[in-house]
Amino acid sequence: MERIQAAIAKARAERQGNREIASPNRVPGNTGAHDIREMWKALPTHPLDPKLSERNRIVSSNHGAESAAFDLMRTRTLKMMQENGWKRLAITSPTAGCGKSTVAINLGLSLTRRDDVSAILMDADMRRPSLADKLGIRRNYLAADVLRGAADFSANACRISERFAVSTNDRTVPNSSDLLQAPLVSDILDRIEAEYAPTLMIFDMPPLMVNDDTIAFLRHVDCAMLVAAAEHTSIKEIDECEREIASQTNMLGVVLNKCKFNSGNYGYDYY
Ligand SMILES: Nc1ncnc2c1ncn2[C@@H]1O[C@H](COP(=O)(O)OP(=O)(O)OP(=O)(O)O)[C@@H](O)[C@H]1O
Ligand SMILES: [Mg+2]
Repeated sequence: MERIQAAIAKARAERQGNREIASPNRVPGNTGAHDIREMWKALPTHPLDPKLSERNRIVSSNHGAESAAFDLMRTRTLKMMQENGWKRLAITSPTAGCGKSTVAINLGLSLTRRDDVSAILMDADMRRPSLADKLGIRRNYLAADVLRGAADFSANACRISERFAVSTNDRTVPNSSDLLQAPLVSDILDRIEAEYAPTLMIFDMPPLMVNDDTIAFLRHVDCAMLVAAAEHTSIKEIDECEREIASQTNMLGVVLNKCKFNSGNYGYDYY
């Protein structure tokens, strides 16, 4: 807990001094002469396996009853992010297993079914990366190397739909909180935004209350979404996390996941 407190204090102090980098009004840089469509086309494609998707609750590749909750989440997310000029969204939760990675994939798929939206999803969970397994990506990608400037995004990402690119980690990464708070990360993300001009970038984070990685990373994003699990996450945990997020970045909303009793929204409620 002390380590988390220290990380919060450090992040806060640095964010004060880095207002320009952390500004929510950041826009992608000049895309220059390069052709963005060619950049997207050059990324390898990875079609989703329907059986694996079903097993992993990946339900929003097509419009259907099961994707309705994510389509609603998509509309609200887009509206709020576009109104505020936000481009980077972190998805976290108080504790493990609330459904962050599942929400991140489904939200990305739902968003990019709209033909005016493109998105990049990055695995920023270096301790328990799971996007590759959930999506069945068996390539030696390491999003961590992209974020530390040691490898190109183009060599560590693939498209799972026309306008949805994913950069995964095929293994755990040591010293993750140092990596995630390095100022260089903001420059790397600026460069990816300039090259691919995604409508938004989504970051699948570790849980907030378990280690200091997410707190360390929040300085690089414009807003964060908190995923809570019904009958598991307490109101106190949500309150604490909301406060911690608000001290670092903008709070986008809370998703109540794994609801047994709701209006048929595939176990999701959003507020
Ligand atoms: N709405 C839901 N209803 C029931 N089970 C769900 C729901 N959403 C996710 N799950 C299941 O809960 C488990 C954890 O989901 P997921 O891996 O997305 O959570 P996470 O928060 O990313 O976990 P971690 O903290 O380990 O990264 C998975 O088995 C997933 O299929
Ligand atoms: Mg996860």
